[in-house]
Amino acid sequence: MAKTITKRSWAEPYRMKMVELLKVTTKPQRMKAMRDAGYNTFLLHAEDVYIDLLTDSGTNAMSDQQWAAFMTGDEAYAGSKSYYNMEKAIQKYYGYRYVIPTHQGRGAEHILSQILIKKGDYIPGNMYFTTTRLHQEMAGGTFVDIIVDEAHDPNSEFPFKGNVDMNKLEALVKKVGAEKIPYVCIATNVNMAGGQPISIKNLRELREFTQKHGIRIIHDMTRVAENAFFIQQRESGYEKAKIADIVKEICSLTDGATMSSKKDALVNIGGFLAINDWEIYEEARNLVVAYEGLHTYGGIAGRDMEAIAVGIKESLSDSHQKARVGQVEYLGEKMLEYGIPLVKPFGGHGIFVDAKAFLPHLSQDEFPAQTLAAEIYIDSGVRTMERGIVSAGRNSKGENYHPNLELVRFTIPRRVYTQAHMDVVAESAAMVYERRNKIKGLKMVYEPKFLRFFQARFDKLK
Ligand code: F0G
Repeated sequence: MAKTITKRSWAEPYRMKMVELLKVTTKPQRMKAMRDAGYNTFLLHAEDVYIDLLTDSGTNAMSDQQWAAFMTGDEAYAGSKSYYNMEKAIQKYYGYRYVIPTHQGRGAEHILSQILIKKGDYIPGNMYFTTTRLHQEMAGGTFVDIIVDEAHDPNSEFPFKGNVDMNKLEALVKKVGAEKIPYVCIATNVNMAGGQPISIKNLRELREFTQKHGIRIIHDMTRVAENAFFIQQRESGYEKAKIADIVKEICSLTDGATMSSKKDALVNIGGFLAINDWEIYEEARNLVVAYEGLHTYGGIAGRDMEAIAVGIKESLSDSHQKARVGQVEYLGEKMLEYGIPLVKPFGGHGIFVDAKAFLPHLSQDEFPAQTLAAEIYIDSGVRTMERGIVSAGRNSKGENYHPNLELVRFTIPRRVYTQAHMDVVAESAAMVYERRNKIKGLKMVYEPKFLRFFQARFDKLK
């Protein structure tokens, strides 16, 4: 019988003009590569990877328009035209007043933390991010998690797992006093929760509360357009709103932002600090010259600033986000068909596999997510990343954090892979799932001091 149409498909709003060939490896080659990499997917040579889902950071495919803009980059040391183009785009599409370019997101986090945080301060946030928290701690602050409990539960289908639990924030203000809280750090589409959005309603409540207490909101806007897509899909009153307008509204509820343009903004490098307050801007202009470069290039080339300006505009297109998040969803649905335990709802930038549920026979100290990422690479050459106990690191007393979420992130670069690639990825995860009972854990044999997940080495447990 002929099939009837129940749902219309999305498709990429672009076509391919140039392709990059991939290397296909054998299983023995991959076993050796993984051993040489100390069972850490960050230490693999990218050449040995078939489908690279390590991160969506800096791995985007630029459009012909971005490449065209790239060629017009003004590489003047001071006052580059490209800086002013980027500044104009940020002011127009995000609405922030002053802009300091940085080499990437963490450059902006560094400068902002140094300016706003004093020793003994507390920085509440909707879940931590690795580099963000590290810069807060290096400046003498303590991060406090104020995200809703649902965010820590991979099985909760709450639509806004990026929301702030206002009771948690209120309790912190009561305990330490508003003067010890220089700002609340709000990420849009919370990475570590699995790419989960915050609602406008929650952001408004937060704005009202923080204004009452004289506390700023600093926005980690790395994936703001993906967050806006979810608001359009899920928040009542926003069904007909344009992503561009939702993004502008989100930004208007905050006082400034740190941005890694390597994600949403569809480029390969770059970031910025944006702020509405002149005095903070002035201080940032002083610091940026010490750490990044002059305040009109901040560690990136003129051509990169041109590509960012175009990328910001492209990222706000409704059809772009529909295909971008649609592809992530496609992979999630496929993996669910094979019974693989995933964080739900699906995230904006990737699918997060629940490694505790995938490998229940391993304790968290045997690094289930690290183990699973290594196994998937060995199976198919697909590279993923650990987001669990290794990423969480240690507290200031040197004790391991034991996060509830022990995840493997299958992160989808923007405009890079096809639906057929997603099929291969889901099948690989399914193959590993079939032999999950035979999988042994890992032990850490080398641990770096900061952000250990990047460079730690492991050995197989016997
Ligand atoms: N904030 C968030 C939410 C991020 O995801 C990242 C980077 C940063 C800040 C720092 O930006 O890398 O440009 O210095 N996330 C990458 C990832 C590394 O793979 O999730 P950066």
